[in-house]
Amino acid sequence: MVKYFININYNKTEKIFMKPETSVFENSRLAAQAVASRILEQAIAKQKQSQILNLAVSGGSTPKQLFALLAEDNFRTQIPWEIVRFFWVDERCVEPAHPESNFGMTYDALLQFAFVPAQNIFRMKGEDIPANEAVRYANLLHRELPARNGFPVFDIILLGIGDDGHTASIFPNNMELLNSEKFVDVATHPISGQKRITLTGKTINNADQVIFLVTGINKSGIVREIITETMDAKKYPAAHAGNYLGIAEFVMDAAAAGKI
Ligand code: 6PG
Repeated sequence: MVKYFININYNKTEKIFMKPETSVFENSRLAAQAVASRILEQAIAKQKQSQILNLAVSGGSTPKQLFALLAEDNFRTQIPWEIVRFFWVDERCVEPAHPESNFGMTYDALLQFAFVPAQNIFRMKGEDIPANEAVRYANLLHRELPARNGFPVFDIILLGIGDDGHTASIFPNNMELLNSEKFVDVATHPISGQKRITLTGKTINNADQVIFLVTGINKSGIVREIITETMDAKKYPAAHAGNYLGIAEFVMDAAAAGKI
């Protein structure tokens, strides 16, 4: 896949410098604010066209700050939530009330405030049999989303990067999920053995926009390897993620971008 990166011009918030492939912000709040601004802009644009915004979000800890920002008055009162639909990039195979649930984290930080209509929330059911849920969710995506090249199309997919270079729940020892013909598949965490439901690489790479939100100094090493496309970069699943044009947008704080 030919990969290139585009500049992200968030002129609403301070940014300390722009690398050819990324936008870097002084701190994690400003980085999250830039992504929140993108969601706001896209949602309003869709609303003007009487369309909906299909958004797939990742879990982990990084998005918490973004979700908290979206719940703050400034964004909460401006976003036309009735046209924003929430899907998940991946989910741990646990109950939604479990502390490791990605849906649970999103609910606590954002969805509990009830301004997102219940019918706009399409959670992965981590509590169900993984193989069955992967099929159910794939069928749901087939039903609910437009298609391109035989795969569902999200307007925006928000991704994170693990220290090992995974993204979604596609881990370095599971690279075949990048090219699976399935929309959704079952993954296994390489250390804990925990089962995960995850969008596959082809579903992710079929999106209109793929935005990595990456913050914190512990990500600076993997970010350097991927952004500077070192020889090792190709072994990281995150290095293979981009939109249908091969574009991956990186929004980071200075700590995560400290080595590029
Ligand atoms: C998950 C996520 C995963 C996450 C990375 C980064 O289920 O854990 O979808 O892909 O984005 O592991 O996680 P942090 O944001 O916690 O560093």
